[in-house]
Amino acid sequence: MSDPATADNRPLLAGVMGWPIAHSKSPLIFAHWFALTGIDGAYIRLAVRPEDFAEVIRALPKAGFRGVNVTIPHKITSLEMADDASAAARAIGAANTIRLNADGRIHADNTDGYGFIENLRDGAPSWNAAAGPALVLGAGGASRAVIHALLEAGAPTIRLANRSRDKAEALAAHFGPRIDVIDWAARDTATAGATTIVNTTSLGMTGKPPLELALDDAPTTALVTDIVYAPLETALLAAARARDLATVDGLGMLLHQARPGFRAWFGADPVVTPALRRAVLGDSP
Ligand code: ATR
Repeated sequence: MSDPATADNRPLLAGVMGWPIAHSKSPLIFAHWFALTGIDGAYIRLAVRPEDFAEVIRALPKAGFRGVNVTIPHKITSLEMADDASAAARAIGAANTIRLNADGRIHADNTDGYGFIENLRDGAPSWNAAAGPALVLGAGGASRAVIHALLEAGAPTIRLANRSRDKAEALAAHFGPRIDVIDWAARDTATAGATTIVNTTSLGMTGKPPLELALDDAPTTALVTDIVYAPLETALLAAARARDLATVDGLGMLLHQARPGFRAWFGADPVVTPALRRAVLGDSP
């Protein structure tokens, strides 16, 4: 049977939709993969206001689009509008990868959790989610994807700390008894025994204060990762490295989450390489 992505004769066309969208790095990722695979596709930024989203997404298949990535503020609306959705999108409550069938049907997926796990497998091949409890800082949209992925990967429990405790409680109610809500003020001691430590807050991003987390109690086997990738080495990762803990930076999550879209729309499984990292960071080769 032929591959559904290439069985139709629509153009090899996709994009990323958000508001604002000018700073999206996704077109750089796709341009790199088009060059690498020889696929003559196009992937463009689509600046779409929230009030226009439904109209635009319904029109895109008519314009030949095979799909889109969606980002803020469309991640929840696109799931609500979809005709069907993956288990991950449903569990996370938001979508980031939309397949547009030629007949107009909309399929929603969320690949953020997949990207998170693939990045860890890539950057720390001996890492095993099941080895011990995880400590997750933050309870926003990114946290939902990370929690879903860690649970799926076999984390026995997840200690969840968020500045606003009520948001962590809401996630615990959603994801079930393997989530233990920890007070934000108690996050340092919650590192004890945690074999996976993840920052999903915006702390540590360029222009924001650093995440303050003492790693003294963390086991020597702990893996520390940050979903922030600008800067690549956050203060958290620098502190972890200084303690000889394994670290994985956040850029790979962005790169790996793009792979399922490329696969679905263009029929090839693209690779994440140092050259792709350089292309996205804008460094000269
Ligand atoms: P995203 O979708 O990227 O996760 P978000 O939903 O805005 O973004 O979530 C941001 C996260 O960073 C939240 O967990 C937020 O904590 P609150 O729920 O208490 O707002 C966290 N965060 C942002 N600024 C913070 C700060 N100064 N101190 C502690 N946590 C912070």
